[in-house]
Amino acid sequence: RGKRAFIAGVADDHGYGWAISKALAAAGAEILVGTWVPALNIFESSLRRGKFDESRILPDGSLMEITKVYPLDAVFDSPEDVPEDIKTNKRYLGSSNWTVKEVVESVKQDFGSIDILVHSLANGPEVTKPLLETSRYGYLAAISASSYSYVSLLKHFAPIMNPGGASLSLTYIASERIIPGYGGGMSSAKAALESDTRVLAFEAGRKHNIRVNTISAGPLRSRAAKAIGFIDMMIDYSSENAPLQKELSAEEVGNAAAFLASPLASAITGTVLYVDNGLNAMGVGV
Ligand code: NAI
Repeated sequence: RGKRAFIAGVADDHGYGWAISKALAAAGAEILVGTWVPALNIFESSLRRGKFDESRILPDGSLMEITKVYPLDAVFDSPEDVPEDIKTNKRYLGSSNWTVKEVVESVKQDFGSIDILVHSLANGPEVTKPLLETSRYGYLAAISASSYSYVSLLKHFAPIMNPGGASLSLTYIASERIIPGYGGGMSSAKAALESDTRVLAFEAGRKHNIRVNTISAGPLRSRAAKAIGFIDMMIDYSSENAPLQKELSAEEVGNAAAFLASPLASAITGTVLYVDNGLNAMGVGV
């Protein structure tokens, strides 16, 4: 039987989530995605209208099928957590069952189990502010959307993940080195995500026989990255200074994700895998 994957954080065809979905589909997996509620309508209508058809083409010429799109807001674990202003927000009113617990219940009802969980989402409302100017609210919001969202997804999905399954997330080197401009507590959120990758690898490994890894990806001109404001500079910096002087493609991260999710990586867990043209290894720019 083919594997079934749930990829959280796909809302267009530009980001890492889309590229990972494609690489997993090309390897034969069935694809389910979780799309942020406010982005759901436009994503689904674009899919339906064929706007992504060109980007859906797989290496064998067929089109990636997304079996089901689930509305998801990963900052809420269950309906009791949703505040009134979100409940009554018109972008949320049209969808239901989008808290983490409800999404997992729906997936269980629809399909019974999954094999692969991918977390490809992040959000930091104050990302453009230096850490020294970040509010408590902004910092905690970054951690909630970008780090705890992963703990919550894995916690809820693990019981319906088949033994031997794999889970992975996307991180960024700002967790361990100073990247001016990656603010609002996002550097802190990625540090938490990487540390949690190790602890969750232990806990989910022992309890569920699931592997847990994270990919530290180089810069990509995604929607989220454009919102930070310095992505073109980071891409130029990498092309100039990395061991491999080429622009990183989302597909390269997708392929690494497919490897980590596959039996080829059956002894790899708790790791941070750099997929960044080697930039992390440089000490000075030359
Ligand atoms: P993206 O914009 O394609 O993906 C981010 C997704 O998160 C969006 O689809 C957005 O709708 C979703 N999202 C935000 N808040 C959410 C919530 N509360 N619940 C559910 N979904 C939510 O951008 P990208 O860059 O592909 O991001 C994917 C991951 O890759 C993130 O973890 C990001 O930090 C990481 N990454 C990105 C790099 C880059 O240069 N683009 C570099 C290294 C890591």
